[in-house]
Amino acid sequence: MRVAATFIMLTAAVALWAQTPPITAQAARGKVLFFETTKGQPCATCHQMEGKGSEAGPDLKLIAALSPKGIIMAVLSSRTAYMQEVKTAAGQTFPGLLKGQAGDVSTYYDFSTTPPTKRDLKKAEITDTKDNAQWKHPPESTGYSEDELADVIAYVRWAGKGHTTVVKPEDMKH
Ligand code: HEC
Repeated sequence: MRVAATFIMLTAAVALWAQTPPITAQAARGKVLFFETTKGQPCATCHQMEGKGSEAGPDLKLIAALSPKGIIMAVLSSRTAYMQEVKTAAGQTFPGLLKGQAGDVSTYYDFSTTPPTKRDLKKAEITDTKDNAQWKHPPESTGYSEDELADVIAYVRWAGKGHTTVVKPEDMKH
C-alpha cells in the first residue's frame, strides 16, 4: 500500500520537478550542505535529491511540501517512523529500512554501515522484524548553525516542490 502510494507521489513529483523554477541563492547554499558538508555526514549519504545521492533513506520529495517547521521537526526528531530492527537467520541484527518487495525477496538498506548498504533477503533469511527504538537520525544536523539549517530546508523545499520562498530561522520555530 505504502509502496503504491509512494509510486504515485513520485510520479507526481517527477512531473512537478520538470517545472522547477531556477534555484534560489539560499537553496544553492543548502544544496552544497546537502551533498558536501564537512559537518558530519552529508544528507546525501542517505537521501536523494534531484536524482543524486543515496536512495537508502526516505524520499524527501514527499516531505518537501511541509512547512519549514514541519521539515525541521522531522530532521531533528529522535523518533523513527520507518526504521526497523531486522534479525537474520544468520544471527545478525541490523537497523534496516524496507525499500521494496518482489516475490520472496525483501530489499532493505542496512544502516549499520556508512554509507548504508542494500541487502536483498529471502523470507527464510529473516527471522524477525520490529520497530527500531535505538536507531537515531544523525544529530550532525544539530552542528549546523540556524542559518545553515534554514539553507538546507530551502534546498529540500526547492528541489522537492519548487518552492522559492526564503526560509528564515524564525520560520522553523512557529
Ligand atoms: C545516516 C543516514 C542519514 C543521514 C546522513 C541523514 N538522514 Fe535523514 N533520514 C534517514 C533515515 C533512515 C530516516 C527515516 C527514519 C525513520 O523515521 O525511521 C530519515 C528521515 C529524514 C526525514 C523525515 C522523512 C520522512 O518522510 O519522515 C527528513 C526530513 C530528513 N531525514 C532529512 C535529512 C537532512 C536534511 C539531512 C542532512 C542534514 C539528513 N536527513 C541526513 C537517514 C539519514
